[in-house]
Amino acid sequence: MAIPVAASPFELFESWYNEALGCKAIEEPTAMTLATVDAEGRPDARIVLLKGWDTDGFVFYTNMHSIKAHQLEANPHVAMCFHWMPLEKQIRIQGQVTPVSDKEADEYFHSRPRQSQLGAWASRQSEVLPSRFALEKRLAKYTVKYPLGTIPRPPFWSGYRVHPDRIEFWLKQPFRLHDRLEYRLEDSEWRSQRLYP
Ligand SMILES: Cc1cc2nc3c(=O)[nH]c(=O)nc-3n(C[C@H](O)[C@H](O)[C@H](O)COP(=O)(O)O)c2cc1C
Repeated sequence: MAIPVAASPFELFESWYNEALGCKAIEEPTAMTLATVDAEGRPDARIVLLKGWDTDGFVFYTNMHSIKAHQLEANPHVAMCFHWMPLEKQIRIQGQVTPVSDKEADEYFHSRPRQSQLGAWASRQSEVLPSRFALEKRLAKYTVKYPLGTIPRPPFWSGYRVHPDRIEFWLKQPFRLHDRLEYRLEDSEWRSQRLYP
């Protein structure tokens, strides 16, 4: 069956994403590959978790001193890719990031388990770790510092919103004659077309 053409890619994203969230065979349905480019134009990629989305964009959270954050400072263009193997579906998204607001980051940070909040304080993400003990010491330090009550969000921990300008849906078909439906944002309108597999 071919991918149905929806008026906007977000309708289709919602339907596929909800299907992935409901699929027991998918352990991390929110996991996506996030590709960035460094200042020398070299691509880089890693997995992050999607923590929110709407027609404005797709949100993930991270350490703002990490390698990816430095890359995004130099070049806000990203590509994201979901692959849900049991559903035989892939979604590719390209766009540019902007930082989320402090309020939005605070809300999400405080919704996380306390241990994860302390972990965010303890991690100097992507810096050289001299020993596991160094990380455990930092975790102990913040556990003592914030024994009770609200833990403030670290100033170096926040999120980005990917504002998409291209979203492509891929559905497996027999004999590798897969179905690909591409949406491009042109003059504020989403236009769709099929691509050869
Ligand atoms: C399943 C999975 C989920 C992850 N989720 C996140 C995430 O939401 N945010 C994040 O910063 N790193 C996440 N990571 C770790 C990243 O893949 C990466 O190691 C880290 O962000 C450092 O990347 P960088 O050095 O390119 O900045 C996740 C890794 C895996 C395997």
